[in-house]
Amino acid sequence: KQSLNTGALVSKGNYNHFMLKEIHEQPIVVAQTLGKYIDYSKRSIDLGDLPIDLSQIPRVTLIACGTSYYAAMVAKYWFEKIAKVPVDLDIASEFRYRDAVMAEGGLTLLISQSGETADTLAALRHAKEKGQIIATIINVDGSSMARESEMVFHTYAGPEIGVASTKAFTCQLSVLACLVLATAKAKQSLSQEDEQQYVKALEEAPSLMSMALTKEDQFKTVARDLAKARDILFLGRGVDYPIALEGALKLKEISYIHAEGYAAGEMKHGPIALIDENVPVIVLAPSSEIYEKTISNMQEVLARGGKIVLISDDAGLQGYRDDSLATIELPKAKSFISPLLYSIPIQLLAYYTAIAKGTDVDQPRNLAKSVTVE
Ligand code: G6P
Repeated sequence: KQSLNTGALVSKGNYNHFMLKEIHEQPIVVAQTLGKYIDYSKRSIDLGDLPIDLSQIPRVTLIACGTSYYAAMVAKYWFEKIAKVPVDLDIASEFRYRDAVMAEGGLTLLISQSGETADTLAALRHAKEKGQIIATIINVDGSSMARESEMVFHTYAGPEIGVASTKAFTCQLSVLACLVLATAKAKQSLSQEDEQQYVKALEEAPSLMSMALTKEDQFKTVARDLAKARDILFLGRGVDYPIALEGALKLKEISYIHAEGYAAGEMKHGPIALIDENVPVIVLAPSSEIYEKTISNMQEVLARGGKIVLISDDAGLQGYRDDSLATIELPKAKSFISPLLYSIPIQLLAYYTAIAKGTDVDQPRNLAKSVTVE
């Protein structure tokens, strides 16, 4: 493992850790990134001139590692729902060693903050050998993956120093959202009116993220309880399921507490056996079309004495404030952008739990910012 340390040039400003600074930068860098791919005057997506015709893509393969993989997972939901394109999703280290059957003329999209992750770079070369069109979403200019791609979509997160990825993740989601809308447009799966609605939702995301950041003290308080736990579960459904997985990853990475993310509906097939009063369960349940389903899974946990931290909007919290260990209210958002908004709570919970445990937040043990060996 090798660490690409560019940290010497960037300051923490008034923050105690790079991670906290990077969490707080998100409304700005997400807005910056969206601004590169959206024409706000027309409320439309504008990716500029592309070397390929997106309307001709039969299938998309999304490949990444770690946090970038969870951004890819959100994008699978978006591509299928909005652009009506079939999507394969792969962890880079698995993809390179399995005999994936790939569609001719398919688009393989690799997602990487650093552009140097060994497994993702190898997956890129493997997909190229299979005749795929190669595109990347990259944060670091001039990286190896950028050099070997036909199309590079940059994230404008700026240097990310904390080993646990935060702002690069939400910027990846921002680019992916635009790419999905552009594909949907090219394939005529999206009316102009719907495009404007989606763009409006994206336009609102940075200010909603800022509002979520004002709840910081509440996350700090909950984190003091989480720090006492040995195991923690995160539940979500739909586009918030990958955010539950990312929440568990973030917490593991920096607090060293065992955490797992689960699709809420999958609880009854195993993890519910773990539930007792010592296992906090963090439920991401915005009041969307699948809210009731998530809540009924949450009730199964409550019935077994589980301690719930419910994160939702005002409507979604009604009636559950007394049953929960804690409830944290986020602003109401369109479900399309909920992964951007719900990233803030899972990041702040991980950060403050790590602070309560006294771990090295920016340089967690055994981890590297960029893993350039297999
Ligand atoms: C390492 C980092 C993670 C990151 C992953 C993929 O494991 O610690 O934060 O998500 O690599 O990195 P990439 O640069 O390819 O996004």
